[in-house]
Amino acid sequence: VPDAATAGALVADEIAALIAADPEVVLGLATGSTPLPVYQALPARLAGLDVSRVRGFALDEYVGIDPAHPESYRNVIRREVVEPLGLDPERIQVPNGALETIEHAGDDYEAAIAAAGGVELQILGIGTDGHIGFNEPGSSFASSTRVKTLTAQTRQDNARFFDSIDEVPMHCITQGLGTILRARHLVLLAFGEGKAEAVAGAVEGAVTASLPGSAIQLHPRVSVVVDEAAASRLR
Ligand code: F6R
Repeated sequence: VPDAATAGALVADEIAALIAADPEVVLGLATGSTPLPVYQALPARLAGLDVSRVRGFALDEYVGIDPAHPESYRNVIRREVVEPLGLDPERIQVPNGALETIEHAGDDYEAAIAAAGGVELQILGIGTDGHIGFNEPGSSFASSTRVKTLTAQTRQDNARFFDSIDEVPMHCITQGLGTILRARHLVLLAFGEGKAEAVAGAVEGAVTASLPGSAIQLHPRVSVVVDEAAASRLR
């Protein structure tokens, strides 16, 4: 697509059609900069649709972050998705990064996704190191929701959301690659030259845990929506 806004419109059309067909559809939500054009394009398309029963599961959360921190993914999802789209906050879940319950948080999240019937459409961004969710290089393709350590690269990339890199948490709880692969349709978005190498590796490179995004090649239904710059290393 020529630009991120066009990608946002394309994916928002698809999501609106899913909601129209099934008002209880289960969406897989990503955070970060990449999905924002989708979320921004959605309200105009949801006018007249009943969104009160739409369900959603976020990909990941920082572990041990103050729940009131504006960059906790719970707050990002509330601010960028739940409120502007008018969704029911009770039906939109984010992995629980609280330290007290972290031991069971992964299993609890997997059980909640399964109880909802699984994710229909999973929005994905990709990290410059090829991560999807926060499955950093080396993640098992069979992995479920669990605690991971963020790489130095990812902490550096995400420092823009915090006052300093020291504030970026060291750990996260993320849906696993196995969890992501269970969604029925994956929609991977990427914009800008900085994502070109990760996109080429994910789409055309070897399927390898060294580039977690390459797991999408194992899925029967994937849409990759990229701008020219992010597509520039594709053969
Ligand atoms: C966010 C997530 C990550 C991001 C990736 C790209 O929920 O799971 O995989 O999609 O880090 O981040 P942005 O979009 O900010 O470039």
